[in-house]
Amino acid sequence: MRTLLSFFFSQLVVIILINFYYYGKFNFTIKSMWRKNEITFSGDEYWDEWERDMCDNPDKDETWRYWDSLCFRKFQNFEEVRIEVLSWSPPLVIYRNFFTKKQVESYLQLLKIQSLEEQEVVDEKGKPFISKVRVANGTVTPFDQYPEAESLLNTASRLIPAIDFSISEDISALSYNPGGHYAVHYDYLEYEEGSDDEFMNEFGNRMATFIMVFKKATSGGGTLFPSFGTVVRADAGDAFLWFDSKENGEMDMNVEHGGCPVYDGQKVISTIWVRSYGQRLFQEHNRNRSFDADVLLRSY
Ligand SMILES: *[C@@H]1O[C@H](CO)[C@@H](O)[C@H](O)[C@H]1NC(C)=O
Ligand SMILES: *[C@@H]1O[C@H](CO)[C@@H](O)[C@H](O)[C@H]1NC(C)=O
Repeated sequence: MRTLLSFFFSQLVVIILINFYYYGKFNFTIKSMWRKNEITFSGDEYWDEWERDMCDNPDKDETWRYWDSLCFRKFQNFEEVRIEVLSWSPPLVIYRNFFTKKQVESYLQLLKIQSLEEQEVVDEKGKPFISKVRVANGTVTPFDQYPEAESLLNTASRLIPAIDFSISEDISALSYNPGGHYAVHYDYLEYEEGSDDEFMNEFGNRMATFIMVFKKATSGGGTLFPSFGTVVRADAGDAFLWFDSKENGEMDMNVEHGGCPVYDGQKVISTIWVRSYGQRLFQEHNRNRSFDADVLLRSY
């Protein structure tokens, strides 16, 4: 009887200790979450508290509750495409495991031998200038110069037939160390009336943004979409895409977004900005409204 009792008490002590351990852990996560918001970095004045909260606390994301937040599996010439729809209209979708490990590694290797430079941002007229709105290093990797970049473009063209990826700017890579970020902004360019931009005249404005992920930060570094109340937290090999313009080619005001501050580790992404002229989607749609994600799920 005595041994039974002492066994019982020793178990009780173990249970209490385990509980203390988890309570401590729980407390620690709450504190570290709260502390992130307190972390300062160059350009943090461009972020408001609500936005940083969204970035730092995955529990604030509500999109998983939407009845129409769905995952799709689609076959394109026998190749599997996994699509998560975060917003239908305007479309914001994640392509999971879109690139192979080999593609990811080769592209990272290419960036290692390229020198990345401190990034500038463009003003309304497309003129670059240094600003703490964006703190990152980057470079361009034109697909006609680098097979590693061409391979990415080929995969995107093959698996996303709704969009002509060849009508686009040079693929541009960005690397964010701790302290790196890009405050909330639009990708659609607002040129002044009558301004003469050759690229714009030939290819039109930005229609869609396609982001490829090569390295995920160990803390921070998601992509915030305030209007959708969501933060895209994608892994290496994933890609995500949204439309910058409405069906009539005008700017879509719902797709402002920001690169959340990186706290730890390194984030490496690369972007293809697709331009609008010659895109068949504009021949099929021309209303004064956002596109629907249906156009990305359809088979061609
Ligand atoms: C940019 O590169 C410099 C030099 O390698 C590095 O010290 C800095 O942390 C980088 N900045 C970001 C935001 O990644
Ligand atoms: C397009 O739609 C927006 C919002 O629904 C509206 O404010 C605007 O006046 C419309 N533009 C035209 C040209 O109909």
